Order: sequence, then structure tokens, then C-alpha cells
Amino acid sequence: MSPHLTMIREVEKHANETVKMGCWLHNKRSSGKIQFLQLRDGSGYIQGVVVKSEVSTEVWEAAAKLTQESSLYVTGTVREDTRSKGGYELNVTSIEVIQITEEYPITPKEHGVDYLMDHRHLWIRAPRQRAILVVRAQIIRAIQQFFDERGFQLVDPPILTPSSCEGTTNLFATKYFDEDAYLTQSGQLYMEAAAMALGRVYSFGPTFRAEKSKTRRHLIEFWMIEPEMAFVTHEESLVIQEQFVSHIVQSVLHNCRKELEVLERDVTKLESITAPFPRISYDEAVEFLQANGHEFAWGEDFGAPHETAIAASYDKPVFITNYPTEIKAFYMKPDPNRAEVVLCADMIAPEGYGEIIGGSQRIDDPELMEQRFAEHELSKEAYQWYLDLRKYGTVPHSGFGLGLERTVAWICGLDHVRETIAFPRLLYRLYP
Ligand code: 4AD
Ligand code: MG
Repeated sequence: MSPHLTMIREVEKHANETVKMGCWLHNKRSSGKIQFLQLRDGSGYIQGVVVKSEVSTEVWEAAAKLTQESSLYVTGTVREDTRSKGGYELNVTSIEVIQITEEYPITPKEHGVDYLMDHRHLWIRAPRQRAILVVRAQIIRAIQQFFDERGFQLVDPPILTPSSCEGTTNLFATKYFDEDAYLTQSGQLYMEAAAMALGRVYSFGPTFRAEKSKTRRHLIEFWMIEPEMAFVTHEESLVIQEQFVSHIVQSVLHNCRKELEVLERDVTKLESITAPFPRISYDEAVEFLQANGHEFAWGEDFGAPHETAIAASYDKPVFITNYPTEIKAFYMKPDPNRAEVVLCADMIAPEGYGEIIGGSQRIDDPELMEQRFAEHELSKEAYQWYLDLRKYGTVPHSGFGLGLERTVAWICGLDHVRETIAFPRLLYRLYP
């Protein structure tokens, strides 16, 4: 915003002063003698009041011409007004129209989801969409703050990779000159290398999965936060995870009250999100499902309905720990007392939002890692660098990945992850 303009979010610092703002018209009402302009500038909303007897004919007519999403500079005096939503309104003295918008495609009437998605570049101007993006930005700030305060270094793993991390089924293939390459599914393996160099690290970047699942929890491109910690056990990692997620929720509650109100989020459900979180083992989860009428055998992986059923017993996120080795990634460390399960946990959000974190302690033993490579038919050449980490000063280490969009969906109370990112990449949707 240019320095000569005042932002709506800072009007309270300018009570009784004359200010100039760059705005769009969100909505308008008129009583014949007074026009009420609902103005937005991205930073907030304010009502502009144009009184016919107080302004020139030009200003009155300029206001009358304004349509939804017309752009303008407006000058006026900031007045404290306890009846208005933001507590202030603008007594308009002059209007400089930049553009009169004609036939804005998104009207206050209801539109179908496909139509809105086709107009996502405009839809994000809507108050609800703006609120979600503001909460997302606050979540990102809270994440960075959490790790910065605890001595983690931010490391950026590559996006173009020669091999997979989370299985080969949903890789996005591309050419890297003459070589085959893939868009990263997870930065974890690289973050393990970084943890051996810097101790405690985290990455924050886009990840890609060519998932053919059209659900309300899956995106093709999503952002993941992946901490990796040398000398940290699975148990210690769980404590960090629950503190991390509590910190994010409390930070949004503290900084985004207005936005949560726009979203009509039941904040009492968020206020109870404080560490520690409940933990159940995979075995207990299976027993619970079987006792509650689900057809489920030990060794299967949970689907969305199973996760939702388990989460329904808790008002906080719940950890499901120690999954069968068979259904989890090759790098997870087996439980020393019970090799058929691994030292891992998924964190399941409350209210049916599903898995928001997947994490584990990693195999640090070079021989076991070699054995896993054979079992999973992984190329030792492609991963030589990863095997090196177990060869040169291997240490116990753990890490996890938080899915940003699912976290935003849960905290904002949304039906679908498509609204959690400005331009979602979904199955069969690459536009806009
Ligand atoms: O459980 P995932 O697959 O774990 C990993 O990728 C590990 N390498 C992370 C690690 O230990 N460093 O994915 C982690 C999280 C999930 O819990 C979920 O929140 C999110 O990423 N996620 C998705 N979010 C949106 N759309 C998708 N298609 C997602 N796939 C995973
Ligand atoms: Mg997972």
C-alpha cells in the first residue's frame, strides 16, 4: 500500500483525522439523502457515509455510480461509531473513481461450487474467503515462531527429486533434461540429512501427490511442515507435536477473533485444544472400531470414516500410535519389544477433520535399513546418500509432517480443503 494511503485496519490510530484510502466497493445502501458505502481494502472493512447536504454534487453522483467491486480512492474523516462493526466509520468528503466495474460475476446470491472455483481469482475477495486466508497466514506465522523459539533451523529441501519418499504410487513425473524426475512428495529424507548437520531443523514447502482421490481432505499440491530432530525419540517427538499444535490453535484464537467470527467458528471447541493430547495404540483403535460395529481387521489401514469414528470420542486431537510395520513407510523404526509395529503416530484432528500429522522415529541401524531397502525393492544407487546417513555417525532421530491445509480446514471449521489455499490444485482442476 502506498505510504500516502491509510489502511482500514489502522483507522483507530486516525480518529477524527482526514485520511485517504484505496478501496473497492463491497456493497452499498442508500436512504435518498445518505449513501452508505461498504468499503474494503483487503486489510479490513469500513462503512463510508456520504451525506448529500455535506458533499458536492460530483461526489454525491460519483458515489451513486459505484457498483460492486468498483475501485476508488476515498477521502474522509474517521469517526468513532460504536454501532458500526469495526467501531469506526468514514465521513466521506471526496471520491476519486478508478474504475466502475460492470457485471461482477460473483453477486451476493448463491453460486454453485464449480462456478465459484472457476472464479477463484475473484472469489477470494469475499469476506469468508479473506478470513480463511488471514487465518492461514496467522497459522504460518505461529509455525515459524514455534520453531524459531526452540532453536530449529529452517532448511529447504528440493522440489525436483530423483526418487520417492512416500511410495511410488502417487508420484508426479516430469523430465529433468534427459533424466526422469518427480515433484517431491515429502522433504523428509533430505531433512534427515539436514538434522545430522544442524541438529533440529524444519522445512516448510509445497509437496505434490498425484492422488486420484476426490475427497474433502485431499489436495494434489499441499504445503507441509516437516521438522526433523537428531537425538529425539518417538515419545519426545509426540510431546513436541502436541505443544506445536496447541501453540498454533492458541495463536489463531489470540490473533484472529474477527476472522473466526466471520467464519462462524465455534471457538469453544478450539479453546480446549491444549497439551497434552490423548494417545491410543493402533491395537486399541482396532478394538474400538470392532466394538462399535465397524468391519475392521488388524493390519488394515484406517479410512476417513474410521478416523472420524475414533476422533469422535475426544474433544482434542488424538494420537494413534504403533501401526503395523507392513502398512507404514520403509524408514520407520520397529518397536524394539515388538517388531510387527513401528514407533510412529498419526495425529487425528477432532470434529472429523482426519489425519493432520504423520510422524515416526526413523531407523538408525545401518543393517536394518539395508534390509528394508531389499524388502521394499528400493534402489541402493538412487538412495546411496540416504544410506550414508546411517554409515557416518548415525543417531536416534525422529520427525513428523503437518499438513497445512487440513490444519487450516479444521481451525476454520470448513467443509472442504479447497477453500484453505488461494489457488487449490485438485483432481481435474488446474484453472485458474
Ligand atoms: O502422513 P504423510 O504422508 O507423512 C509424510 O509425508 C512424512 N514423510 C512426514 C514426515 O514424517 N516428515 O503426510 C503428512 C501430512 C498428513 O498427515 C496430512 O496432514 C498431509 O500431510 N497430507 C495431505 N494434505 C492434503 N492433501 C493431501 N493429498 C495430503 N497428503 C498428506
Ligand atoms: Mg500419513
